[in-house]
Amino acid sequence: MVDLIVGLQWGDEGKGKIVDLSAKNYDVVIRSQGGHNAGHTVVVDGKKYALHLLPSGVLNPNAVNVIGNGVVVYPKQLIKEIKNFGEEIKSKLLISDKAHMILDHHIAIDQAREKLRGKNAIGTTGRGIGPAYADKIARVGVRMGELKNIGKLLEKLAAYYEMNKEYFRYLDIKTPDMNELKEELNYYKEEIGCLITNTTQYLWDNMDKNMLLEGAQATLLDIDHGTYPYVTSSNTIASGALTGSGIAPKNLNKVTGIAKAYTTRVGNGPFPTEDLGKTGDRIRKQGGEFGTTTGRPRRCGWFDVVAAKYAVTLNGCDEVAIMKLDVLDGFEKIKVCVGYEINGSEIDYFPSELENVKPVYVELDGWDKSINVTEWKDLPQNAQKYIEFIEEKIGTKIKYVSTGADRNATIIR
Ligand code: GDP
Ligand code: IMO
Ligand code: MG
Repeated sequence: MVDLIVGLQWGDEGKGKIVDLSAKNYDVVIRSQGGHNAGHTVVVDGKKYALHLLPSGVLNPNAVNVIGNGVVVYPKQLIKEIKNFGEEIKSKLLISDKAHMILDHHIAIDQAREKLRGKNAIGTTGRGIGPAYADKIARVGVRMGELKNIGKLLEKLAAYYEMNKEYFRYLDIKTPDMNELKEELNYYKEEIGCLITNTTQYLWDNMDKNMLLEGAQATLLDIDHGTYPYVTSSNTIASGALTGSGIAPKNLNKVTGIAKAYTTRVGNGPFPTEDLGKTGDRIRKQGGEFGTTTGRPRRCGWFDVVAAKYAVTLNGCDEVAIMKLDVLDGFEKIKVCVGYEINGSEIDYFPSELENVKPVYVELDGWDKSINVTEWKDLPQNAQKYIEFIEEKIGTKIKYVSTGADRNATIIR
């Protein structure tokens, strides 16, 4: 049985918390796309853990954690994360031999291109994600399994650098010293070589177990269905998780979509409900809305039902979790976007082009305090009404309501 957790907005919804909370019910937790652009925070007994490449199941003693074929792996970051958590986690970690590798030049290209774009920059995390996926699609990428034969890999990379030397020169990027690169690759092999395996086969062989696919980034950052070009470079939606793991669609049991009780976005691109005034500042402050990966302040605004409904449909969500409800504590009035105005007429669907879209709001009454509430009946009435309003609008059961960062601060309905 395979369940899936997916972000419904522009990322940082609190996927890590829900994966960690649910991980006790699963034997295997799988990351299937993205790379160390992700930052998933898990808080257990007041202690905070930031995960980038490791699946959020690592804090659970029993689950096996799989980094699937669709992930782009920066070995340096992965080794660092493993060392932070303790080498013992290696006994329950597998890396796909088909996953593509991020090398230092991908990171240099990402950052150089962002600089060149100037005011049109995407606002990437600068982690080399786009260039690594571009090489994969162009069929010139390097796969983790190639660490088996470093001599051959170095020959391939030398040809790659030769082929791209004009491009590198244009971007003012140095090609690496091949001796240093050899040492680097040998270090990767020594540290994580033993974890690299055919994870697709592993997942097929263990289909009788309970598995959880952990989404990274989120629906509106999807390369096809998101706010292109202000997106990440992978398919972040449910179907992408299947490609990125090798699990067949018929094995998918349940899809849980994760959304905040408001909206945030980090990086550039359209964001209809963004509030550039006091409300945005207040949400940012109350929600601690600063990126887990880059520390950038997140752009903040009200909940967008149109975007959430689009996301729920794209992912085929069976249920939804609404996170960070406590962040809205103390607001007298709370707005929800229920439609868009575009060229003077109102629409209730998410258009392919989000520029020049103005949100249409309804206003609901706020509540005093929901923080750390763990029972639905103890939630203030207006908070209950807010959740029920969203539930009705998106047409999907809101199964979880999160009222604090800690694993325990969760209402299960
Ligand atoms: P992810 O990328 O989707 O896993 O989310 P992030 O970890 O980047 O961002 C979510 C942030 O909100 C983290 O700092 C979490 O610890 C925190 N968080 C999650 N759920 C809640 C909640 O219900 N209330 C509050 N106040 N914080 C939460
Ligand atoms: P998690 O998994 C929020 C955003 C970047 C930028 C765009 C492209 O923690 O939710 P990239 O480096 O991927 O090429 O950047 O995508 N982005 C995220 N925003 N949460 C994330 O991950 C993100 N990963 C990428 O800010 O706008
Ligand atoms: Mg995050």
